[in-house]
Parts: sequence; C-alpha cells; structure tokens
Amino acid sequence: MDGRERELIDRLEKERGLDEDAYAELVAGRDEEATDFLAQKARKIADAVYGDAIYTRGLIEISSICKNNCLYCGIRRDNNLAERYRLTKEQILSCADEGYDLGFRTFVLQGGEDPFFSDEILCDIIDDIKKSHPDCAVTLSMGERSFESYRALHDAGADRYLLRHETADAEHYAMLHPADMSFEKRMQCLRDLREIGYQVGCGFMVGSPGQTFQTLAKDLAFIRDFKPEMCGIGPFIPHHNTPFKDEKQGTLELTLFLLSVIRLTHPQVLLPATTALGTIHPQGREKGILAGANVVMPNLSPVEVRKKYELYDNKICTGEESAQCRGCLDNRMRAIGYRLVVDRGDAKYGTI
Ligand code: SAM
Ligand code: FES
Repeated sequence: MDGRERELIDRLEKERGLDEDAYAELVAGRDEEATDFLAQKARKIADAVYGDAIYTRGLIEISSICKNNCLYCGIRRDNNLAERYRLTKEQILSCADEGYDLGFRTFVLQGGEDPFFSDEILCDIIDDIKKSHPDCAVTLSMGERSFESYRALHDAGADRYLLRHETADAEHYAMLHPADMSFEKRMQCLRDLREIGYQVGCGFMVGSPGQTFQTLAKDLAFIRDFKPEMCGIGPFIPHHNTPFKDEKQGTLELTLFLLSVIRLTHPQVLLPATTALGTIHPQGREKGILAGANVVMPNLSPVEVRKKYELYDNKICTGEESAQCRGCLDNRMRAIGYRLVVDRGDAKYGTI
C-alpha cells in the first residue's frame, strides 16, 4: 500500500465517501495490504453499529420461471434446459412456518419475473405470512413492477424490496441486458420503492462482463448518494447455458475489498455475505463478514426445488435441509466470533 492509497482510505473513512474518480483510483490501486487495512476499519465500524450480531434472512425461492433474458442469469427465458417450478401458496407458507420455528424473523420471497405472481396472488401470500407471523419482516425480490404494483404489495404488508441495480453505468447495463430492459426503468423502480416507503436494497455483481474501475466507481457513488437500507453484492459466476458461459468469474479478493468500501461509505447498511461468495470459496461468507458484512441469507426453499433455482453454476446449499443450513451458518459465525440472532434485523441508525 503506497501513501496515496492510504490517503484515499483515510479520506473515505473520514468523509464517508469519495468522489467518483477517487473511488476508481482506490479500487485500481489496491493490494493485499490495503485490502486487509480496509477490512479492519470496515469490521470496526460494523462492530460499532451491530456488535457481534449477524442478521439472518430466510430465502424462499418461489419461482424459477422468468420472462426476462438477462445475459448472465441461469433462469433467463431462453435457457431451455432450465428446470422450471413455481411454489404453491401452501408451500411458501409452510417454508415460512418452518423458518419461524428455526429462528428466522425475516422472509425473503425471491423469484424470476413470473407473470403468474400477480398483485392479487402475492398480496394474499404476504397478508397470510404477516397474519401468522406479525413479528416478522417480509422482503420481496421479484424484479421490476409498476408503481401501483409496488404500492399494493407494500399495502399488503411487504416491508422491504431487493432490486439490484446491477450497474450504475447505462452502457454497461446495456451489455448485461437485452434491448427490452432499460437502465432508466431499473433506476426508476428503485426510486419508486423508496417513495412508497419500502426499505430498499440495491446491489451489483462483482466482475460482471464489461465491468471496469470506472463503472465500479459509479456503483459506489450511487450507493453513497442513494443510501440504500440494504446492498447485495456477490461475485458474478458464469452459468453454463447463458451467453456469458465463457466469461471469467468475479474474484473473492475484489468482492471483499468492495464490501469494505461499502461499509465505510455507509456504516449502517445491511450488507449480506452472499451465497455466491460462499460458492467461489469455502470460507467466502466468513471472509465476507470479516470484511464488513453483517447479514447471511440461508436457504429456506423446499429441498426438492433448490437445484432448479440455478442462477449460476455450482451454487452451494442445494442439498441441505433448512435446519442444517441455519445450523451450518451458526457454527460458521461462531467460529469467527459472531453469532446469528433471532431478530427482524432492521438497520440501526443513530448508534454511531
Ligand atoms: N428477478 C429478480 C430480480 O431480477 O431482481 C430476483 C431474482 S435475480 C435472479 C437475483 C439476482 O441474482 C440478480 O439481481 C443478479 O444480480 C444475481 N445473479 C443472476 N445471475 C447471476 C450470476 N450468474 N452470478 C451471480 N449472480 C447472479
Ligand atoms: Fe447452507 Fe452451510 S449455509 S449448508
């Protein structure tokens, strides 16, 4: 780490952000020493806000059917080898009940953009989950919808919405998506969600094809300004039946560095150590926590469908029972001095 890199890290810490060029310089100039130095600072801030508590979200993958054709994604419409399924309302509710007994207080309903899940159907499911478990948060991750749809789902009780922006650079966005998807629409959705009153999550893949230090700097500046309640980042991992099958996977090292930068930029952000991070390295999630993350998202989906929700190759936790998955993560967190808590896991403002 040279003097300039150190100066940028100190400025990032003091001012809770850098300008775009400085972010690009910081990321481009990193080495192992800078990565460790930054991780220590990030972990100290996460400890000051969240202590040794790690929040959990029970992820229920409700549909592998998708009308979109994102170039990176294994459940894209044109992947005719993908196995498609859709959970019934009863299956979703029983995943939530099981999750509740295991100690989850947030359920994330995630899926492809499956037209079957109309507002009426989703509202009914959200309403039932909230009635059975009023002390729980419901998070949705169902892609782009209209303002009215987002509002109806919020009125039905949904608390949070995850919609990764994927990249804050319009040209880069167009390299990752077909022409019928637009960067402006994606960003508008995030603004709509915020206006309606959701706790909002954005995020991006690390190492996606076409990503540069400049596009990453735009992502970081976007996070600095938008201040999402949640931010999901994980490595891009190629899927063998997508147009990006021969592209390089994102690295553990850059993902960890960016987790730390995000924690320093936005101390209170809810930042998961993602399944994708656990997929590219056996201790990926532990390393993610040690770099500043404070959330894990074990899988609550029925075991028989897990392999079918294949966004990328070699995804972990597809053979485990939900209880095993939570137990496994509990052990992993204890081994590094942290603990899973039974808590809705809202962002904590005002502590530092
Ligand atoms: N359909 C919803 C949406 O688009 O937000 C939710 C499901 S989508 C599959 C969830 C996230 O998975 C995407 O936002 C993307 O960042 C991530 N993802 C998809 N394909 C991936 C890949 N090959 N490697 C890593 N992450 C991937
Ligand atoms: Fe799923 Fe370890 S977290 S088995």
